[in-house]
Amino acid sequence: MIDGPVLAIETSCDETAAAVVEGRVIRSSVVASQAELHAPYGGVVPEVAARHHLGTVNAVVDRALDEAGLGLGDVRCIAVTQRPGLIGALLVGVATAKALAYAAGKPLICVDHLLGHVCAAWLEPVALDPPFVSLIASGGHTRLDLVEDWATPRTLGQTIDDAAGEALDKGARLLGLGYPGGPALERLAAGGDRAAHDFPVALGGRSARDFSFAGVKTSLLYRVRGRDDVSDAERADLAASYQEAVVRPLAERLVDAAVEHGVPAVALGGGVAANGRLRELVTDLADRRGLRVAVPDRALCTDNAAMIGAAAQFATIIAWPDYLAMDAMPTAPPGGIAA
Ligand code: KG4
Ligand code: ZN
Repeated sequence: MIDGPVLAIETSCDETAAAVVEGRVIRSSVVASQAELHAPYGGVVPEVAARHHLGTVNAVVDRALDEAGLGLGDVRCIAVTQRPGLIGALLVGVATAKALAYAAGKPLICVDHLLGHVCAAWLEPVALDPPFVSLIASGGHTRLDLVEDWATPRTLGQTIDDAAGEALDKGARLLGLGYPGGPALERLAAGGDRAAHDFPVALGGRSARDFSFAGVKTSLLYRVRGRDDVSDAERADLAASYQEAVVRPLAERLVDAAVEHGVPAVALGGGVAANGRLRELVTDLADRRGLRVAVPDRALCTDNAAMIGAAAQFATIIAWPDYLAMDAMPTAPPGGIAA
C-alpha cells in the first residue's frame, strides 16, 4: 500500500473532482458537477465539459487539500484518471496532474476510470476484499467483472450497445423528463406499476453475461411516439416497467455470476448503483444466495476522485521524467480495464 496521502484528480466526463485518500480512508472528496451546464442540451457536450474543467480544476484541487488539512508538499503522490472518457476533459486532468507532480516533485499514477469505479468498494466503510463480482453501470459503461485481485479485474460481460445509464437517460427523455434522466425516471417510476408493460428483457447475445439495451429503448419509443394522450398514470407505469426491464437483468446476471464463480460477495458501482430498485433487487437476490452485497455511498458510486485514489493503490507509480510521456486516452484497452 502507498505509505501516505494520495491526491487524486478525476475529469473524465462532466464532474471536476479531487480527493485526498490515505490507505482506505477518504480524507477529503470534492466534486464540482457540471450537470446543470449540460442539461439544456440533454447530454454532455464534450467541448463545454473540457473548458469548464479547465476553469474549475485548480480550485477543486485546492479545496480537496484544504479539507484534508494538507499542502501539496504533504502528499505522497498524485493520481489521475487517464482513460477512458472524453479526450478534451481527460487532457485537463492529466495536464494538471503532471504540472502538480512536477511542481511538488512527486511521482504520478495513471488510473483507469473503470478500475476506479471497481475500487470504490475498497474504501472504508465498505472495505471489501476479493474475491467478488463487480457490476459497474453508469452513463458510459455497463460491465460485469470477476475481481480476484484489485489490479486485474477479469471481464465477464459488458453491454453490446447502450450503457444502462444511457438507456435510462434516453428512456427518461422519451417520457418528457430532463437530463440526467436516471434519477427523474426513478422518481416517476415510484408511482407506477412495474408489471403494467411487458418490455423485452435487456440481455445480450455474444456471451451469457453481455447486456443489450437498444431493444428496450426502441420498444419504449414505439409506445410513446406521436402520442399526446399519454396520461400521468400511464407515464408512471411506463417508467416503472421500463426501469424494471433495464435493472432486473443487471441484478440477475450479477448474482448468477457470483454463484457460478463461487465468490462470497457482489459489489455495485457507477451512477446507476444509486437506483433504489436495482439495490433492492440485488439485495433480495443476493440474500437468497447468502452473498454479501457491497454498495459504496451514493457519492462514491457516481463519478468522484476518491475512487481514483483507491485504484491508484493498485496501479504503477511513475517517476519523473517518465510520467511526462503519459497521455490521456479516450478508449478502454482491449481487455476492458487497464491495470
Ligand atoms: O457514474 P456516473 O455518475 O457517470 C458516468 O456516466 O460515468 O453515472 C451517471 C449515470 C446517468 O446515466 C444517470 O442517469 C445514472 O447514472 N443515474 C441513475 C440514478 N442516479 C444516476 N440511474 C438510475 N437511478 C438513479 N437514481
Ligand atoms: Zn464513471
